[in-house]
Amino acid sequence: MNKKTLEKAVKMALEVRKNAYAPFSNFAVGAAIITKDGSIFTGVNVENSSFGATNCAERTALFSAITAGQRDFEAIVIASSLNGKAVFPCGICRQALADFNPKMRVVLVNSDTKQIEQDLLLSDIFPGVFEFKC
Ligand code: THU
Repeated sequence: MNKKTLEKAVKMALEVRKNAYAPFSNFAVGAAIITKDGSIFTGVNVENSSFGATNCAERTALFSAITAGQRDFEAIVIASSLNGKAVFPCGICRQALADFNPKMRVVLVNSDTKQIEQDLLLSDIFPGVFEFKC
């Protein structure tokens, strides 16, 4: 993906984070998933009073892209900040993303500094991925 697309996705993840629905945790996350053709789909965390029905920003972005007919993902940008640091995706989101591309690039942006803090591959943080062949 070119530099401009990544920069745009970083801006979009930071911007959409403002729409997070997190009345229980007060912890807002924004995500922007980038397809191989350079399209970008955003998502936020959407919490629920049953807690278990909460959807993370990463999966909201992924599901939005899938809904639009996309299947090939190159990278995901995650914008948040906890104790002054960008956050890693949770285990459920790692598996959800890995089903589409276990080598997806994962870019962690600190929403306080607006800077990219980590730029790695999903396989670096999610080895031994479960693959259900059908
Ligand atoms: N959350 C995300 O949206 N993405 C992550 O990577 C970590 C956790 C959300 C879920 C919940 O709304 C809140 O953060 C606290 O767990």
